[in-house]
Amino acid sequence: MMEAEIENIDIIAPQVHFGKPEQEPYFNQLSLACYDPEKIHSIIIRFLNDYEININDFPLDKGSYSRTILFRNQSYLELMIARWDKGAKTQIHGHPDFVYEYLIDGLFQIESFKKNGSYVNKIASNSQQPGEFICLQGFKGQFDNAIHRITAKKESLSLHIYSDNALKGEIFTDFKTF
Ligand SMILES: [Fe+2]
Repeated sequence: MMEAEIENIDIIAPQVHFGKPEQEPYFNQLSLACYDPEKIHSIIIRFLNDYEININDFPLDKGSYSRTILFRNQSYLELMIARWDKGAKTQIHGHPDFVYEYLIDGLFQIESFKKNGSYVNKIASNSQQPGEFICLQGFKGQFDNAIHRITAKKESLSLHIYSDNALKGEIFTDFKTF
């Protein structure tokens, strides 16, 4: 019985995961924002002003980072909060066509890379402070947009919006880097 119920769940139906029901108007506004960077940013600023996002409400993954999905809609827009342990580092990774990332607390070092065949070249390294955001737009259907690696220099909390499942982002291993 349980199996049949699970099979009947439409995985692309609107879903609120750990977001609170009263936050749904914000999630709906994000869905209607058509990936307009200014609209998305202003919705997020209002959301963060209206709801205290406390680092202790999110799981600590020692030496790494945890991902908590607040909302995912039927066209795969995803709102995620990441809690980072000090020193946590991502792999070098690409993204779907739309990426928005806002640092709520902590400090990031962000290394950016450019794809060169099956390799990547480092093109920049910048720090990101709380209150600063990044918004990048690339090619739809590709998962090698905005290739970067994030290192949390302090324990950190960040908010992310993607136009698709971020876990589909292409991964580049260190030995391909030069
Ligand atoms: Fe990323």
